[in-house]
Amino acid sequence: MRIELIVNGTAREVSAPPNTPLLDVLRNTLNLKGTRFGCGLAQCGACMVLVDGEPVYACMREIGTLAGAQITTVEALDGHPLRAAFLAEQAGQCGYCLSGILMSAKALLDRNPSPSRADIVAALDRHLCRCGTQWRIIRAVERAASLLREKAVP
Ligand code: FES
Ligand code: FES
Repeated sequence: MRIELIVNGTAREVSAPPNTPLLDVLRNTLNLKGTRFGCGLAQCGACMVLVDGEPVYACMREIGTLAGAQITTVEALDGHPLRAAFLAEQAGQCGYCLSGILMSAKALLDRNPSPSRADIVAALDRHLCRCGTQWRIIRAVERAASLLREKAVP
């Protein structure tokens, strides 16, 4: 099956069986290795990407359901304040969970530029971090929100 997608703003056409997980297409066909495979069972969030702006487990979403969809992966976050904020807060240890967490954080900040701590915790509820850096991750999202609000001031 041939499917057209918009990946990080660029039209891409891929050929794959319709039940192929989006994660496989991103990593193995499009060579976008930033999105991680963790559990493959919608349990860890390592594979999270945005589909039409909403966080989706790429390990579970079949490519045949995505014709014409807008896919956003961690590679699109170059220059985004989330990256600077996560570095400033030293929010990763092994870093394996972070590309998925960054995408859920982006979806949150896109719809809510001033999230409360409870909003951030709820938005990241689908993610596991085995290294236990949750508090630093939460502080990093708060810092990114602050940076984005500063950028928005004319
Ligand atoms: S790899 Fe998709 S949720 Fe764990
Ligand atoms: S930083 Fe290692 S799993 Fe989160």
